[in-house]
Amino acid sequence: MRAQAVVALIAFVVTPQWLAAGTSNSLMDISADGTLLACANRDNGTVSLVDLPSHKVVGEIPVGHKPEGVSFIGDTHQLAATVYADDQIVFIDGDARRETGRIDVFDEPYGIVSSPDGTRLYVTLEYPGEVLEIDAQSRSVLRKLPVGKFVRGVAYSDRDRRLYVTEYHTGVVKAVDVENGKVVDQWRGSRSDNLARHVASHPARPKVYLPHIRSKVTVAHGAGSIFPYVSVIDSEPGEGRRRKPIALDAFRGTFVVANPWELAVSPDARRLYVVFAGTDDMYVCDVVDDDYRELKYVKVNNLGKNPRAVRVAPDNETFYVYNTLDFEVVAYDTESLKPTAKIGVCQNPLSDEIWRGKVLFYSALQPMVSRRWISCASCHPDGHSDGRTWHNPEGLRDTTALFGMAWTHPIHWSADRDEVQDFEHTIRSQLMQGRGLIDGDVHPSLEKPNRGLSRDLDALAAYSNTHKFTLSPHAKQGLSESAQRGRKVFFSEKTKCAQCHSGPFYTDSRLQQPFLLHDVGTGDDDPSEKMGPKYDTPTLLGIYRTAPYLHHGKAATLKEVLTTHNEDDRHGRTSHLSEGEIDDLIEFLKCLPYEDPEIEAKKSGLKAVLN
Ligand code: HEC
Ligand code: HEC
Repeated sequence: MRAQAVVALIAFVVTPQWLAAGTSNSLMDISADGTLLACANRDNGTVSLVDLPSHKVVGEIPVGHKPEGVSFIGDTHQLAATVYADDQIVFIDGDARRETGRIDVFDEPYGIVSSPDGTRLYVTLEYPGEVLEIDAQSRSVLRKLPVGKFVRGVAYSDRDRRLYVTEYHTGVVKAVDVENGKVVDQWRGSRSDNLARHVASHPARPKVYLPHIRSKVTVAHGAGSIFPYVSVIDSEPGEGRRRKPIALDAFRGTFVVANPWELAVSPDARRLYVVFAGTDDMYVCDVVDDDYRELKYVKVNNLGKNPRAVRVAPDNETFYVYNTLDFEVVAYDTESLKPTAKIGVCQNPLSDEIWRGKVLFYSALQPMVSRRWISCASCHPDGHSDGRTWHNPEGLRDTTALFGMAWTHPIHWSADRDEVQDFEHTIRSQLMQGRGLIDGDVHPSLEKPNRGLSRDLDALAAYSNTHKFTLSPHAKQGLSESAQRGRKVFFSEKTKCAQCHSGPFYTDSRLQQPFLLHDVGTGDDDPSEKMGPKYDTPTLLGIYRTAPYLHHGKAATLKEVLTTHNEDDRHGRTSHLSEGEIDDLIEFLKCLPYEDPEIEAKKSGLKAVLN
């Protein structure tokens, strides 16, 4: 036994797996021979190729809207990128520096990894929550594996031939057996775990690491609402402590970091690097193989703006950080932890104003925030909702997505704000405790306009108003017969839906005073409510992916909105509808938007709020 154990140990130390880092989803990847780095430039819609170690950008390939992941295929210089907003996977020849083809996928491809032998690619489709297995050679989809809801992070672990996949809004990690494509294990965290967009596996031990936050919805306070974590998972089956959450705000005394985005385990698995997109810094940690502490603090490095990716070169001498709002990748020496090169990877495609607004939106530093835990993006990452209902001082409030907001002012469920500049209140409130963006003694007022008082505040508004609707994947082939029947039900005199959900944005919201508010019978079931029972009509565009519903988030599904939450027909008339008609109506709602609402809006003379 003992001799066997020694042999096993030697095999374990010298096996090549020990040298190859676990493949995990990222905005950045390095080829196995260490000569090429690729990064997906989300704002620019391109993938840049950097020659290593000369650190020269040798190519920038247009891929489409919002690329979110890039991966070299096996040990080749071929790569593939996910184009999140265009629903495509783009293939690139890294030596020829050009696109070699693309395929359509159902919706929202986010993470992408390759099997180490380069025969397969695995892609998370955030909506509807599947993992695609793609043959890297023929580029055909071999299997669609239903894995969970809103899946984002994906890591390929060669050690146990499993994929580890994270659910974005719950932080639940699922293990998928590569052979049979089945979910064979899962690890739940706390109910407040949120925004788990990345996962990596230890190359040699049964450990999986994921960065995420916790959203404590019952507290609206700068030091009590959002918390940064790395969770460590014991991936071996069996009893014991299977998931250990490491609180990163207590990792180095009381030093607070915000919005952990991605992490990387070094090829020798001695180091773990994690970047914070809110506080613009990172932790360098030692990996401790004690199955108890797991990580030991080594150093904090200050980074550039909005770091979203970190990768270690295969020779373990350099690690790279992608500061996405500097459009720059920075190389660091893994011994000294000092920067050795700065590589501008693409042009900044944003105007000065939108760029500034975006920097502020992601920042958990002054003048936005004093306690460093929270940024606007902690609850509205990339304009999406965090999938939570917050216990706000005015009552329960489901976080809204910011898509199309330029056209749907006034804002908030209660229309208590008429411009994003009013969020100066949020910045200075208990929630963020920032110094604020308006200089001097001027105090913001909700009644009087705040536009024009501060360039930064106007920039924050301009950025917030940039988020556009994407078309519903349910209408890719046009409206189905059921959706067409549902459309008739929606626009019928009897149901009255279109009385309030009118126009190209399916809302009668308008900026003329008095704002239109409606009591649709939803204001009675929350004792903490201070503003109801009348609410602003929400847009219905994009609701196929924004459950739960209603201002208080109490309707889990669209069906509940139309049935159990509308028993006395105060919210349109639905009681006369048959089961089939309700299903058709839901089918129609899920197809919104099936055409670009801005074209229709411009025709009818509507105006967007730009800042
Ligand atoms: C703790 C989570 C949280 C943070 C932090 C946060 N928000 Fe929100 N946000 C919400 C919730 C919840 C709502 C829905 C509230 C409502 O409508 O009454 C909301 C609504 C909004 C809306 C209205 C959207 C619409 O169409 O009605 C805007 C705009 C917005 N937030 C911008 C911001 C900005 C800018 C910041 C940073 C200054 C910020 N938020 C910080 C949770 C948050
Ligand atoms: C009298 C105006 C009015 C009518 C008529 C109306 N709605 Fe609404 N609708 C609203 C308001 C106001 C809300 C927000 C209520 C709340 O959050 O408590 C809402 C919310 C919704 C929501 C939830 C949206 C979300 O993001 O959570 C859906 C779905 C919806 N309506 C669909 C319909 C359908 C379908 C009909 C027709 C059967 C209809 N509505 C009729 C005013 C109306």
